[in-house]
Amino acid sequence: MCHNCVAAAGTAPSRRSVTRLLAFGAGLTALAACTPDGGSRPTPSPSPSSPSAGATPSTATAGAETSAVTSPTAAETTTASVPTPTAAPTPTSPAAGLAQQHSLTDPASPWLMVNKHRPLSPADYIPADLVQPNVALAVSGEAAQLNSTTAAAAEQMFAAAARDGVTMTLASGYRSYGTQTATYNSYVASRGQAEADTASARPGYSEHQTGWAFDIGDGGGACGFQPCFAEQPAAVWAKANGHRFGFVVRYPWMFHQITGYYYEAWHLRYIGVEAATDMANRGIATLEEYFGVEAAPGYL
Ligand code: DAL
Ligand code: ZN
Repeated sequence: MCHNCVAAAGTAPSRRSVTRLLAFGAGLTALAACTPDGGSRPTPSPSPSSPSAGATPSTATAGAETSAVTSPTAAETTTASVPTPTAAPTPTSPAAGLAQQHSLTDPASPWLMVNKHRPLSPADYIPADLVQPNVALAVSGEAAQLNSTTAAAAEQMFAAAARDGVTMTLASGYRSYGTQTATYNSYVASRGQAEADTASARPGYSEHQTGWAFDIGDGGGACGFQPCFAEQPAAVWAKANGHRFGFVVRYPWMFHQITGYYYEAWHLRYIGVEAATDMANRGIATLEEYFGVEAAPGYL
């Protein structure tokens, strides 16, 4: 199913394929018992009530990056319409105006760009500064850890959410190469590789392995890792406020042709307050666009 709309760059999914991905989302709940998230895993989730802001068409270079980037050109709608990636050269990095620049290739950099075109190097990278943040945990062990910078930012964000009356839990943080291998293989065994690739990164390709990303929950309910999580207070709050603490919703609604994954309202990625706020203010939806790297709808 999802390979119809994700595997080929620039190929917009049909209404039929979107319907099929919804069916796939329901089917993925069967994976609940075999993932490190302790629950249902990421589900492709076209959520009519949660369209992402239209991205600002842009391409650029950032640091040593020179790849062209693709951008959606059509405004998001509440139907099954899909943004059409188009090449759009741009002379400077969208992030060039920021005071501090960071590497897009170093896994220890907050601006690391890892996607289906950009594996981690080394593939078995382990963050040197993993710590357990002082936040409400829905997991234990390595999954309760983040790198130290992300952990500190998460503590600030969770505390702010709590002050606003929003319950937020850490549902899945760091994953080692080995854990990601097991996670991905569970999907493949259950659904086949094409569908697995729309929801779970292959080992060596996951932000979770860097400590810069984590999944949030809300402490209960049936929407964990499900499409309906997008409408839960924790997700609504994180989407609106995450940038104040350096976070972005990494896989926004209807940008799968750029990010390679369907909407994951629960997956937050740290890039720093300045960059995340800049993205939010400019309505740029994906890191691929913001940092001027090519869209990565499928593996090379
Ligand atoms: N679900 C995200 C894409 C991951 O596996 O890293
Ligand atoms: Zn995640």
